[in-house]
Amino acid sequence: MLEKVVHTKQAFTEELQKAATLQDLEQTRIKYLARSGEIAALFEGMKSAAPAEKPALGKTLNELRQYAQAQFDEKKLLLEQSAKPKEVPFDLTLPGRSKPIGTKHPVTQVMEEIKRIFRSMGFSVENGPEIESDYYNFEALNFAPDHPARDMQDTIFIADKILLRTHTSPVQIRVMEKQKPPVRAIMPGWAYRNEAVSARSLVAFHQIEGLYVDEGVTFSELKGTLVAFAKQFYGSSIKYRFRPSFFPFTEPSAEMDITCYLCNGKGCRICKHSGWLEVLGSGMVHPHVFQAVGYDAEKYTGYAFGMGIERTALLRYGIDDIRILYENDVRFLKQF
Ligand code: DAH
Repeated sequence: MLEKVVHTKQAFTEELQKAATLQDLEQTRIKYLARSGEIAALFEGMKSAAPAEKPALGKTLNELRQYAQAQFDEKKLLLEQSAKPKEVPFDLTLPGRSKPIGTKHPVTQVMEEIKRIFRSMGFSVENGPEIESDYYNFEALNFAPDHPARDMQDTIFIADKILLRTHTSPVQIRVMEKQKPPVRAIMPGWAYRNEAVSARSLVAFHQIEGLYVDEGVTFSELKGTLVAFAKQFYGSSIKYRFRPSFFPFTEPSAEMDITCYLCNGKGCRICKHSGWLEVLGSGMVHPHVFQAVGYDAEKYTGYAFGMGIERTALLRYGIDDIRILYENDVRFLKQF
């Protein structure tokens, strides 16, 4: 009986060593460790051993079973590990992962481009407050208290005669108050109007204002400067026209149109089939404005202009809904 035990142990150990796969191992387990395996058969055989031998035999068989189980477990772990694909910590041949680099918002890009062009023509950049008084936003700009043009501005009031500026034109007044002519400045910034948000209008938007005051400034200089700007900004092949208009703070006033460069003036969705795009308002500074800031209206003349930046971005990129600029959809923004 003991001989059989020794023999089984040897045979088991050899077969276990030979097992190269988990399937081989399973065969070995069934052969030796299963309920009907060889070790179980030895326990069965113990029943017919002499009573005196039983305790020692039982001990030996238990040891064999423990040994076989432990060997089996160890080998199983080993085979399972080698069956797994090897983990390679780094693959140095892989191409690097690039991090997406953000871009400037289209409104910022347009603003910077406009500033760059006017700076190159000798304009300085000035700023003023977004919370304004009625005086700067309207009165000093020649809007009489009951002037109907005030209605057009959809003003957001904060307190009596205190408001969110409806345009950047009040900065003209602030610049002229602190500086004697010649003045040649652009004034960018936020403006606010109590309007329903739609494809064409926002409550908060940007404008850029321009002002040039000196002795003997003429309307032809206004035209020359604005045409030079438009050709740089929209392209040298555009055609333009000036249409008479009205603003309380300029006389005469004109709006500038350029040929729609998306359809070359043939008429399309963006120019509403007119072939023309309205790009800015402008005019010769009204004498009342000079009087408000203490400039001699007999001695000085000047021109002013203003344009909406979001609107300009729409025209430039052929976008037909202004709201998309502020939805912050990365799929839209990363195109710029
Ligand atoms: N402030 C005007 C507006 O918001 C735009 C404008 C028109 C500004 C003519 C000017 C100008 O300086 O001369 O509609």
